[in-house]
Amino acid sequence: MAEKPELDVLLGTERTFPPPSAFARDAVLGDPAVYEQAAADPEAWWAAWADRLEWIEPWETVLDWSDPPHAKWFDGGKLNVSANCLDRHVAAGKGGRVAFYWEAEDADEQGEDGRKEVTYEWLLDQTQRFANVLKGLGVGKGDVVGIFMPMIPETAAAMLACTRIGAVHNVVFGGFSASSLKERMEVSEAKALVTADATLRRGAPMPMKEKVDPVLAGLPDLKHVIVVNRCDTGCEMKPGRDLDWHEALAAANPVCEPEPMDSEDPLYILYTSGSTAKPKGIVHTTGGYLTQVAATHRMVFDLKDDDVYWCAADVGWVTGHSYIVYGPLANGATSVMYEGAPDYPGRDRWWEIVERYRVSILYTAPTVIRSFMKWGEELLAGHDLSSLRLLGSVGEPINPRAWLWYHEHVGGGRCPVVDTWWQTETGAIMISPLPGITTTKPGSATVPLPGIEAGIFDRKGKLIAEGGGTLVLTRPWPAMARTLYGEPERFVETYWQRYGADTYLVGDAARIDEDGYFWIVGRIDDVINVSGHRLSTMEVESALVSHPSVAEAAVIGVPDEATGQAIIAFVTPQDGVEAGGEFTAELREHVAEKIGKLARPKTVCYADDLPKTRSGKIMRRLLRNIADGKELGDVSTLRDPSVVEALTAQVENATEG
Ligand code: WT7
Repeated sequence: MAEKPELDVLLGTERTFPPPSAFARDAVLGDPAVYEQAAADPEAWWAAWADRLEWIEPWETVLDWSDPPHAKWFDGGKLNVSANCLDRHVAAGKGGRVAFYWEAEDADEQGEDGRKEVTYEWLLDQTQRFANVLKGLGVGKGDVVGIFMPMIPETAAAMLACTRIGAVHNVVFGGFSASSLKERMEVSEAKALVTADATLRRGAPMPMKEKVDPVLAGLPDLKHVIVVNRCDTGCEMKPGRDLDWHEALAAANPVCEPEPMDSEDPLYILYTSGSTAKPKGIVHTTGGYLTQVAATHRMVFDLKDDDVYWCAADVGWVTGHSYIVYGPLANGATSVMYEGAPDYPGRDRWWEIVERYRVSILYTAPTVIRSFMKWGEELLAGHDLSSLRLLGSVGEPINPRAWLWYHEHVGGGRCPVVDTWWQTETGAIMISPLPGITTTKPGSATVPLPGIEAGIFDRKGKLIAEGGGTLVLTRPWPAMARTLYGEPERFVETYWQRYGADTYLVGDAARIDEDGYFWIVGRIDDVINVSGHRLSTMEVESALVSHPSVAEAAVIGVPDEATGQAIIAFVTPQDGVEAGGEFTAELREHVAEKIGKLARPKTVCYADDLPKTRSGKIMRRLLRNIADGKELGDVSTLRDPSVVEALTAQVENATEG
């Protein structure tokens, strides 16, 4: 169970943290007037940020919102994302600048190869070569390319190469299962896939190519697989289909002119979980997206020339897209990219990395911070963390205790903490402190960024000035999702219908306090947030019921001290199946195979029947209350009250053990 809320109050939710004066003085944004200026003319505000990019053709209109919810940003403008992220820095004489300090998980054993200084020049070379490889395979503008890759520099080059020729990448997190990958390739009609033989995980190669091989045959549109050899595992290569990345790039033409793209051309698809079992293919476009990720990366992280920035997310999530690849590279930043696990070989690996590269900005998720808390601050003591000057958090609500620990033990009490709220759909940070301006309150993402407008609707659908309700965004923003791939109606229905076509329904509950600060509570739909990763209850349920011995399953998210939320599954086995230990292990493995390890239920409870209304609807409220150990309330509508007792007893056992 999560910590008691009273403790948080005692710990100082009352405490506030104004920006340190020296930080405020030198900040990228230090004048609170920016909020009023941007509110008075949001289009001018975003246009000024867009102006900092390199456009091949200027835009005609900043924003076309004549047909909500279909926005056009910087319409008429042409640009190329890879040229903005690479060529212009190289042309400005910064080719030798480090884009990524790449650190292998086994850096010490690998010698020179274990720590690479990936320069802008090198990335540009790899990007152009791979762009030509793709072209040679017949991949062109508008074609979809799957990317299933570890945290290695080639992943960034593969993404940038797509943008260079106008291909649309569809990155799938490397921890997803082969069947999740297959589904995402199938529905997006991907023509090619970039992957690696393996990646290192806690000292051992974790195969990737071999894992996906069995599903590739079932993908007729996917004609080419390009494989980066990371671990020398000697994976099988199918002649005519599979290509070795290094060989192909060595043979490729090193020059590939960037394709001029329309501002509204699609840049990428990224699948994320929704309320149904079918993942949603969020589509982001070019000009507005790049504008907002670059702008927010600069203003929220207060980016300066000499910063060493580390976003410790995986490139397979939107955080990696926006704040490892596109934002930082558009800004010509120097980042750290780390391949492996935070606790390998020791639990101080991260602090060793911060010390080694003199990291000044660290961006991570509350779940990781809570792990470090659990492991103890002694692990930090042996390392010089004095280079840090700013800390960021993303992915789930950060509880005040974790916020304060992060601030004190990682930041030495001197670094502002920016709790950044956003989503795959928003593309970029939306609600967050500006570290040189905003007084922070631990646990609150504070206020919408300049140019962004958010609000809270109460139960009656009224916009409220103070109190709790449903979070909405009330003004279009440049990086907003434009549609769901292949499902334009679902896009409108899911996000833009409840409160009208110009109001975006976020799917989070939130509270706004007397100072106008936003406190994000969590999802209001059937989405569970495990360690900052989004999963739908339906997705996990359908994975469970696909097991031949499962008759019925219901899944809920419950508060969990380590992972924010954890998955509890309630399962009715088929007759004659022995529930319990071994079967539970089998079910968890089955879910890992169907979706990925991240979706495995923490606890599985069994019952001959699930609590249902007389009309057969599973009563999730009851399941939630059982899991929380709460009073069950009105059970008069229940078909068979005895199932509740059976489940309650099991949950009590599970939580004691
Ligand atoms: C959901 C979006 C944004 C990139 C990573 C997750 C939750 C995200 C915060 C935060 C409270 C947060 C919300 C949101 N969330 N950041 N700072 N405070 N909650 O992207 O997988 O699209 O998930 O994550 O519930 O809706 P995502």
